[in-house]
Amino acid sequence: MRRFGEVDSTNRYLLDQARSGAPEGVVAVADHQTAGRGRLGRTWLAPPGSSLLVSVLLRPALPAERLHLAVAAVALAACDACESEAGVRPAVKWPNDLVVDDGGAGERKLAGVLAEVALPAVVVGIGINVNWPPELPPELAGRATALNHLAGRDVSREGLLERLLAGVDARLPDWQAVASEYRRRCATLGRPVRVELAGGTVDGTAVDLTGDGHLVVDGEGGRRTVGAGDVVHVR
Ligand code: BTN
Repeated sequence: MRRFGEVDSTNRYLLDQARSGAPEGVVAVADHQTAGRGRLGRTWLAPPGSSLLVSVLLRPALPAERLHLAVAAVALAACDACESEAGVRPAVKWPNDLVVDDGGAGERKLAGVLAEVALPAVVVGIGINVNWPPELPPELAGRATALNHLAGRDVSREGLLERLLAGVDARLPDWQAVASEYRRRCATLGRPVRVELAGGTVDGTAVDLTGDGHLVVDGEGGRRTVGAGDVVHVR
């Protein structure tokens, strides 16, 4: 395992390692990232020492269109790790967020997963908000949460890391089981959703997941399959 006090991005580091032939199972973890990467080209920000920032290099025997299952395996392992280490059971929101019901009208994001591909390798990185200050930065207030806020105590990043990696190990390479578990635990299925895509918005009910991990939304204009975008669970 490669541990960093500070690095630009654990995903970037492992992608370079993957291109140089590093084997499956190499892990990079950092206390702080100066250029953390999020989905859809966004930046992933976290105060130093506040989060579990970890990436795993996988070389799954999967066709490219099923690599989303590697993301699912990490997301599901992270849900279990949060439950056993902090007593918090997040839901998986399609495609790759861990969210927690805020007890009011909505959900708050606890973690995000980002997969980046250097075929045949895939680097799956996750950022879990673990021990954050009581006040979240204004851009995250009301939208995000952290394990210490939910558990009422500080949570061990090291314990969480161990459980996360054990959970990933335990799931590979039974991809069929990963697909079934993801389907069972995906909070998006069956819900009214609004999907924000680059070209507009799709409203409807999330009715299915395709084999390549896309979301099927049943709306006014019929069924649409969406492959990326931000989902809002509409109540
Ligand atoms: C998202 O946008 O929700 C995905 C965020 C993924 C962040 C993690 S932190 C560890 C790894 N390294 C990165 O640069 N990004 C991922």
